[in-house]
Amino acid sequence: MIIFLNGEFMPIDAAKISVLDRGFIFGDGVYEVIPVYSRRAFRLSEHLKRLQNSLTSIRIDNPHSDEAWGDIVNTLIARNTADDQYLYLHVTRGVAKRDHAFPNPPVPPTVFVMSYPLTTPPAALLETGVSAITALDNRWLRCDIKAISLLPIVLLRQAAVDAGCAETIMIRDDELMTEGAASNIFVVKNGELIVPPKDHLMLPGITYDVVLELAAANQITCHVRKVLKAEIFSADELLLTSSTKEVLAITTLDGQPVGTGKPGAMFAQLHRLYQAFKRDVMRTAS
Ligand code: PDD
Repeated sequence: MIIFLNGEFMPIDAAKISVLDRGFIFGDGVYEVIPVYSRRAFRLSEHLKRLQNSLTSIRIDNPHSDEAWGDIVNTLIARNTADDQYLYLHVTRGVAKRDHAFPNPPVPPTVFVMSYPLTTPPAALLETGVSAITALDNRWLRCDIKAISLLPIVLLRQAAVDAGCAETIMIRDDELMTEGAASNIFVVKNGELIVPPKDHLMLPGITYDVVLELAAANQITCHVRKVLKAEIFSADELLLTSSTKEVLAITTLDGQPVGTGKPGAMFAQLHRLYQAFKRDVMRTAS
């Protein structure tokens, strides 16, 4: 496995960073996860835009132009073996003596990119859907930043695993559904979609945007508004979206069936549209 660290490509075993890196000490950094299909990065410019927003929000200067990021990404894709990969981009505030405030004078950010083979959900999972639990959303109030400090998510996701489930759906203040631990959540009711708006309470998902675009192009009504906790328990279907899971049906919630307990018609349609869209994008990419 070849990775990129601070300007150089190298085998992962050769990669070393300082124990004083602020990512290690404080979780002081941001990241991106970008799917790669047939060796082409999917929605690269959108992912780089979100990376820029995350960096701006935590006041780190972007270490690379979009063009330079594109070169790093494409070189890494070429130097790893799988045709379908997912790229993990990670930028921290760099290495400095331990002090919570920013290093003064500033130090260069640490830039790390790695690639894993991408395995999208297998056919069996598409047929059954996955189980989820609900839990209190006890994160901070800047969930729009893709921050590497993920301790609440680690605990919430482990709670799902402990319950034999794939995802945790988070509820803010016992009232609003925000998102999944590592996904956005769509409610399906009476043949229409309902999703929370992009605000400080959730990550603006790239897959979320693709699904909204596909819905608009295919006359599927979508309401972008706050989603109440009660609405996920009375949903006809629940869908999760993410760069690595694409679109997946949640068929059991807190041990109870969602709707019929099987992936429904909306899932089938959106999954089909998503796969067709992916194929089209890959065909037309230069
Ligand atoms: N997570 N919400 C959260 C909290 C996430 O961590 C993710 C993705 C999403 C979906 O965003 P996108 O469609 O852009 O992947 C929503 C990635 C996959 C991860 O952390 O591995």
